[in-house]
Amino acid sequence: MDKILPWDAQPINQGHITMPPIRSSALLLPGRSSYNDAPMIKPLEMMKPTIAPTQVHLETFGCQMNEYDSELVRSLMKQDGFVFTDERERADVILMNTCAIRENAHNKVYKHLSELKKLKRQRPLVIGVLGCMAQNLKEELTDIQPLVDVLAGPDAYRQLPMLIRNAMLSQAEGEDQKGIAVDLSEYETYHDVIPDRNDKVNAWIAVMRGCDNFCSFCVVPYTRGRERSRDPEGIVQEARRIAEQGFKQITLLGQNVNSYRFDNWDFARLITAVADVPGIERVRFTSPHPKDFPLSLLEAVVSHPRICKQIHLPLQSGSDRILGLMNRTYTNNECRTLVDRIRTLQADIVLSTDIIGGFCGESEEDFAETYRLLEDIRFHSAFIFKYSERKNTIAARKFPDDVPDSVKTERVTRLFDLQRNISYERNREYLKRTLPILVEGDAKRSAAQGMGKSDGNITVIWDKSAVPSKPGDMLSLAIYDASSTTLYAERPPIN
Ligand code: SAH
Ligand code: SF4
Ligand code: F3S
Repeated sequence: MDKILPWDAQPINQGHITMPPIRSSALLLPGRSSYNDAPMIKPLEMMKPTIAPTQVHLETFGCQMNEYDSELVRSLMKQDGFVFTDERERADVILMNTCAIRENAHNKVYKHLSELKKLKRQRPLVIGVLGCMAQNLKEELTDIQPLVDVLAGPDAYRQLPMLIRNAMLSQAEGEDQKGIAVDLSEYETYHDVIPDRNDKVNAWIAVMRGCDNFCSFCVVPYTRGRERSRDPEGIVQEARRIAEQGFKQITLLGQNVNSYRFDNWDFARLITAVADVPGIERVRFTSPHPKDFPLSLLEAVVSHPRICKQIHLPLQSGSDRILGLMNRTYTNNECRTLVDRIRTLQADIVLSTDIIGGFCGESEEDFAETYRLLEDIRFHSAFIFKYSERKNTIAARKFPDDVPDSVKTERVTRLFDLQRNISYERNREYLKRTLPILVEGDAKRSAAQGMGKSDGNITVIWDKSAVPSKPGDMLSLAIYDASSTTLYAERPPIN
């Protein structure tokens, strides 16, 4: 049974709150604006320690799993009396939930950290680095970045409130004690933590965590540890609660979501059970591994009316030699056969992929096979990355990163150009068709335009003066124009 934490039943922000004292000096922190702002203690409250809530600002980088983990962190911290602010400048604690997947993800975090140096000089501030980078770079982060007070890896979030309180105390006492919790767990699934969700339309549920595949280029098995699945009853119960709260879409998450296994439950059974929950209109999943697509899963996807007809198939390369070096456990032919099998079941399914260009030892011929694979399969979209060597990975230890950066750039540019044309043509296949669109909110560029997603997860935009909409609405809209990334829609003609 899923244990429901009662945080949402507790008033957590009423101007002042009671905090569990870790040390008696908790009430005597000098110079903290939040503590100094505490209201005068009234006689009846003399017996309990009363202080202003600590304001936390949380920034999230990386994948959907990190977005979800930030929802868990908010929940765990609010339960402990912290409150959250969108304004960095008002925060007593700044947390960064980080990603380590490629070099540029790292650089982004270092850039943000250097911006915080100035803030920390001006006032007492606790800085915490969470997530994959904290896990992978513990020495470097604490040595090179003395401004980091707390490091917490993805399996250590239950300890975070305690680490932060201790860091605040240490700072107030003029000490510089770091709080570090980066142990990986074989069991932690946070199954009993109700995420503090920001979105009102889509709810993430992590059904499994970690990865045992050890693709040679990838840092994830080192930052997120061993694969473990969450119990299905708790997941279905959470899906019911999500439906009752009015969410329209659930996205099941996992580093290898379709490797889900718990007793005699596999992913096909799990996703069907979630999609059967009344009130949920769409169910998606990400990120699957191409090796785990039994017929039962494909049949579940194509036959269940509420599972979206969309599959992300991260192929990484079209060269068998490179796929072997990457430890991806499938061949070019097996990819093609899988795509054929999917399209035989559902011809108009939306497929997308991830590709890495310029992996160790990639020759022009290897690259040409990847190019041909994209040309032949004609995915609706593709995320194309330059290979970025990650410390500790098998590739970093065994293979030289020998494709010059200029060649990597040139190859990924050729793949981008190819895919842009294919995506454009694919999207134009929707012209004059009427599609069900789930409204997410306003378009990024203009609040006068609404934005939503097709069943295939393609972004759709319309003029709100012609088609009024609010998040969560399901609209039926006619597509009148399309670019490589966006469909443009209007009210369908009345017949
Ligand atoms: N679990 C998913 C992928 C998660 S990471 C899977 O197995 O497919 C998301 C994507 O980042 C990967 O699909 C890969 O294309 C890319 N990626 C991972 N490590 C990378 C690296 N070292 N350099 C460049 N791209 C990388
Ligand atoms: Fe990384 Fe491979 Fe695991 Fe995906 S399957 S997270 S690419 S190791
Ligand atoms: Fe990044 Fe970790 Fe996700 S490395 S992509 S945040 S699993």
